[in-house]
Amino acid sequence: MTKLPDQTPPHGGDVYFLARSLGVNIGDLLDFSANINPLGFPPGLTGAVEEALKEIVHYPDRRSLKLRAALAAYHHLTGEAILVGNGSTELIYLVARALRPRRGLIVTPAFSEYEHALNLARVPVAFHPTGESHNFTLAEIPEPQAGDLVFLAHPASPSGVLLDPELFLRVAAGVEAAGAYLLLDEAFVDFVEEASLKIHLGRFPRLMILRSFTKFFGIPGMRLGCLLGAPELVARLSGEQEPWSVNTMAQAMGVACLAESEYISRTRTLIKREREFLLDRLAALPGLTSFPSVVNYLLVKLTRPGMTAAALRQQMLAHRIVIRDASNFRGLDERFFRIAVRGRKENERLLAALEQCLRI
Ligand SMILES: Cc1ncc(COP(=O)(O)O)c(C=O)c1O
Repeated sequence: MTKLPDQTPPHGGDVYFLARSLGVNIGDLLDFSANINPLGFPPGLTGAVEEALKEIVHYPDRRSLKLRAALAAYHHLTGEAILVGNGSTELIYLVARALRPRRGLIVTPAFSEYEHALNLARVPVAFHPTGESHNFTLAEIPEPQAGDLVFLAHPASPSGVLLDPELFLRVAAGVEAAGAYLLLDEAFVDFVEEASLKIHLGRFPRLMILRSFTKFFGIPGMRLGCLLGAPELVARLSGEQEPWSVNTMAQAMGVACLAESEYISRTRTLIKREREFLLDRLAALPGLTSFPSVVNYLLVKLTRPGMTAAALRQQMLAHRIVIRDASNFRGLDERFFRIAVRGRKENERLLAALEQCLRI
């Protein structure tokens, strides 16, 4: 029998490791552990890359001027309010290092790279836990002295539930009054762009909003993200960023992605329909509770005694389907797992395999 890898990986989407461990090709795996657009990348990207290839004989534009201009138009901001990075992850590490906070405060459960970035920057870390009764979203304002760099995700990760906008405004005002910083991670908000809190940037000079091309535009391997914030803060961060971290291909791809309005609206429609389909069908399976996500991933809890996400993941791997065991998120336990929202056929394969696994 094939030996299945059993440790919880720090992130979803580690298909290279999994395929090697299982002795299969990456294409044999159906990956629900990373939350990537099931449509694949936008069609215009191929031409954009071919064009950009001609430019790789030069260093990349250090200022990413074309991409920042495109992002400025897309987000209704100025180019000075935008810093691009080698994935939004690079910007998380940059913020943790460059702002020299006394203490970082992470609203949990959360993307593990916030904590790792603070650890590497030798910044002490505190946590503000959220509860299941609030769908793992913030329910109260964190103490102002708890940390002077606050990490908060919107929608929450991994529950996919939106923040209460009134509460957000109170948190942002509190952070501002305390002279602290707030990094609001909107890496997945593109699926519900109308809910983005970027409209409040002008009011809060210490607010930074993180965005990613990875998930919505289906390009995790390219590494492209950006930070939106007050021009002074952006300039300060930019001054501490490594040179040329965003390569010529990535810059060209970013510009091309933002021009794909048909792909953008098709993605939103598809994900909404498939999310509702999955939530509906999951509700009919015994021993599962799902959380009301608005994005392209769903957090699910196993409610039957004795069932664990680690065991379920192993069983699903036998079907060549990868789910994300979410037990290593701070504040979750062995009963939680996360799945991506994919296309109809793939979602049906997931549901059929889940049904079999849960029957045992
Ligand atoms: C909540 C959240 N923020 C940020 C990221 C980083 O994404 P990237 O570095 O690919 O832009 C991830 C990746 O999984 C994530 O889940």
